[in-house]
Amino acid sequence: MNLWSTLRERCHVPYSGVPEVCIAVGADGRWHPGVRVENASFPLTISAYQAAIYGCLSEGSEPVAILIPPGVSMDAAYAFGYPVQTADSPKGRFADIRIDISDLDAQFLRLKENAVVPNSRFPVVALVRTEQGWISGVNIETADWQQGLCAERVAVAKACSHGLGQPLEWRITAFKGEFISPCGACRQVLAEQNLDADVWMHHPDHTVSRHTVGQFLPLSFTGEFLRK
Ligand code: THU
Repeated sequence: MNLWSTLRERCHVPYSGVPEVCIAVGADGRWHPGVRVENASFPLTISAYQAAIYGCLSEGSEPVAILIPPGVSMDAAYAFGYPVQTADSPKGRFADIRIDISDLDAQFLRLKENAVVPNSRFPVVALVRTEQGWISGVNIETADWQQGLCAERVAVAKACSHGLGQPLEWRITAFKGEFISPCGACRQVLAEQNLDADVWMHHPDHTVSRHTVGQFLPLSFTGEFLRK
């Protein structure tokens, strides 16, 4: 199947029904897919460009090109400042981003280096388990603060874009402060994916607390009636 068709099927677009896909080609030669991940709270939607570009950065690489399907405006992709190319039928393989977390602390420390945090100097690492294994997310900050994404949302974008299935378990850590906790926007995005997922928060003081996504967001706005 054409890579674009594969990616269009991975989009989470229950509200618009309009897929958006792209591929970030990393400087290391690895290909990072991006799909649109909508949220019932529309402004929390993650674009395909954020998914691919931040996915690439979170893997410790830098995009050298953003590939988009023919017939799609290049403007949204150009806004990120990387070269954009139209590709009819791209030929390549997506990176396998699954990781082994048998040494959790070592993974947290390794992945912390991939966080892009020029504004906050506050790296966050979010690991998520899907039925196909564990993957990572780190926070990515941009000059325009509103375009950046928290570690948890980068992980959601990657799980969706790589077609790995819904999040089942979260492991989240930060390295400064005493007690870490996912922000309100991330709670809403995690809730859209799976209210029953377990969330383990690994605090900087090495204590751990465990909750479910549903516990983090009582009386949540699910927007079932918004679905097309
Ligand atoms: N941040 C996360 O990555 N996850 C959270 O749940 C809280 C906040 C990031 C976003 C930004 O890069 C920095 O921490 C400060 O807000």
